[in-house]
Amino acid sequence: MKKNSSYKICVIKGDGIGPEVIEETLRLLNKTKIKFEFKKAEAGFNTYKKQGTPLPEETVSICKQSDATLFGAVTTPPKIENYFSPIVELRKRLNLYANVRPFISLPIPASRTNLDFVIVRENTEGLYSGRERLTDEGAVAERVVTKKASERIINFAFKLAKEQKRKKVTLVHKANILRLTDGLFLSIGQNIAKHYPDILFEDIIVDACAMKLVKNPEEFDVLVTTNLFGDILSDEAAALVGGLGVAASANIGESIGLFEPVHGSAPKYTGKNKVNPTAAFLSASLMLDFLGEIKTANKIRNSVFTTMKEGCLTYDLGGKSSMSQFTNEVIKNLSQNLLCS
Ligand code: NAI
Ligand code: MG
Repeated sequence: MKKNSSYKICVIKGDGIGPEVIEETLRLLNKTKIKFEFKKAEAGFNTYKKQGTPLPEETVSICKQSDATLFGAVTTPPKIENYFSPIVELRKRLNLYANVRPFISLPIPASRTNLDFVIVRENTEGLYSGRERLTDEGAVAERVVTKKASERIINFAFKLAKEQKRKKVTLVHKANILRLTDGLFLSIGQNIAKHYPDILFEDIIVDACAMKLVKNPEEFDVLVTTNLFGDILSDEAAALVGGLGVAASANIGESIGLFEPVHGSAPKYTGKNKVNPTAAFLSASLMLDFLGEIKTANKIRNSVFTTMKEGCLTYDLGGKSSMSQFTNEVIKNLSQNLLCS
């Protein structure tokens, strides 16, 4: 995306800890030299209680009219009539087909070292197709793998590898059992790989991948996979670098992006000024990358790393800092960072 003089950002705070991590993120973004016009929009369980829907149409149109969307987290309680996950629905409605989650070693004891890989997850179909029904015997969910969505996501992964000067793309599948769906996904990957002779292509069965993520995660570079596998593997990968408090994600469509921490609404921590806002800060950095503001994105990342190196850590990383103390320190480090060219 081209740089603008000011960016329109749709802000969906959501439920539970969503509003507090997003407010801290806006506080941080307002300290950068970039101009933002933040437009609030509603989604989530509180919205459902007030408006009878977890995702009002107005929210979808504000997202569409914005340069990017920043999303906190929503509560999705099971077994409530007319309720659906607004984030899963938004990904479909905005055609945010790529879910991108980078995992980089952090300067904290809870993080493994030498990690720098990205998981690219197909975000619109697979087992999350929404085609689930009750049958006489029990229930059935359809796992949808289309040629179009598979080509789009695998091409996206190779382009990302090229742009970020990465060396390898690993396609994760279960084609030995899911012969038709993942057989198709794998053969599309093998064909696309031929167009990228400079990037090494390999494939791995999902269960072996789950083990390798624990044993030798430093060998991964870019992973590309279907929806459910990507969902599970990315939470596993988050544990390697410090857990859900630090895991950031980007949802990317044709010309639109939505950026959100991987964690949910963690209801028991709501309003306690306790949780880690890093996942939200790093998601905002991914948003700045997407907007073309890469220098500022890197400055935010560096400020977070410096703050961690100083030992200013929230409870989830073994520290004693509150959420706002951590943010204050990141802002202090950012202002010093901004003085350097
Ligand atoms: P969760 O991610 O909300 O919380 C699980 C645990 O992770 C928390 O109890 C806490 O110990 C830790 N944690 C999460 N975020 C943290 C942070 N920023 N700093 C420090 N520790 C943090 O997952 P859970 O409990 O399974 O789900 C709670 C609600 O969130 C559910 O209603 C679920 O549907 C929803 N959810 C929403 C998501 C979204 O909006 N994208 C994603 C995942 C869950
Ligand atoms: Mg998840």
